[in-house]
Amino acid sequence: MANISILGLGAMGQALAARFHQQGHTVTVWNRTPGKAGALTTKGAREATSAADAVTASNIVVMCVLDYAASGAVIDDTASALSGRVLVNLTNGTPVQARAAAERVAALGAAYLDGGIMATPPMIGGEHALILYSGSKAAFDAHADALRDLGAADYLGADAGLASLHDLALLSGMYGLFAGFFHASALVDSEGIRAGAFLKLLGPWMTAMMGELPGYAEKIDSGRHDLNVVSNLGMQTASLDNILTATREQGVATDLLDPMLGLFRKRDGAGFGDEDISGVLELIRRKRIAGG
Ligand SMILES: NC(=O)c1ccc[n+]([C@@H]2O[C@H](COP(=O)([O-])OP(=O)(O)OC[C@H]3O[C@@H](n4cnc5c(N)ncnc54)[C@H](OP(=O)(O)O)[C@@H]3O)[C@@H](O)[C@H]2O)c1
Repeated sequence: MANISILGLGAMGQALAARFHQQGHTVTVWNRTPGKAGALTTKGAREATSAADAVTASNIVVMCVLDYAASGAVIDDTASALSGRVLVNLTNGTPVQARAAAERVAALGAAYLDGGIMATPPMIGGEHALILYSGSKAAFDAHADALRDLGAADYLGADAGLASLHDLALLSGMYGLFAGFFHASALVDSEGIRAGAFLKLLGPWMTAMMGELPGYAEKIDSGRHDLNVVSNLGMQTASLDNILTATREQGVATDLLDPMLGLFRKRDGAGFGDEDISGVLELIRRKRIAGG
């Protein structure tokens, strides 16, 4: 069992602290605004008088605050106490922010692990909770057992930005799925068909289309969008154009799918109509540096 301090007692920090305490760790908590530790202290956690006091209490310090402006402010306040500790920052941010925080914390003499929580607070400690980590491998290896008390722990590499990158990419996939669902629901809603009823058709269709992803991934990774093409971009541009025409005819806004049709047309217009739609990646991906 470990001594663990939690900085930040919002909905997520509370869940993390409660789970660590439930698993038998010695838990110290701190929150910028006092008065949020009530339920935890009743169970036996200690409320620190300051963030620095909380950091001093434990070898492992888990921070989960609103954003990187907030986590930066907490690092400022605890700078003199951090040396020799492991800071696990589960605050949502960008890869650039995570790398900057890692550099700053290392300069203060502490090990840094960044994390992306793929769960809601009630899921913490449950079988579907996943937390992505990157940064100090030594810190991850030393504390993996305690971190696994929160959920599955996936260490992605020494670059502190990797957890955030994967976290945000997973969420991007989710928002794309939701966008398709919202557009489809608006389309059937225009004729009074309820989203819940339509989901009986849409759900299995989307699941079936998931089967296309490994083939697209292969084309994206190789840059060969001309191989094994069964539904070419030219045909799919006409098809998506038709969907948006029908959408307008139904009095529904096309905002969610307009950008995709724009990319399809651009790639088609550039002479890639016979290739696969995965070729739109070439319009948005970061340009690779030769030899890199
Ligand atoms: N909730 C979720 O479903 C979920 C899921 C995955 C990841 N996350 C991530 O987890 C993090 C925390 O989320 P949450 O749901 O716990 O948010 P929340 O309930 O809104 O709590 C925000 C926390 O940040 C603190 N805070 C804000 N500004 C601060 C500052 N300048 N200095 C110090 N502390 C500050 C707040 O302290 P005060 O009480 O003093 O305001 C509070 O403890 C976020 O980065 C979020 O993206 C959340």
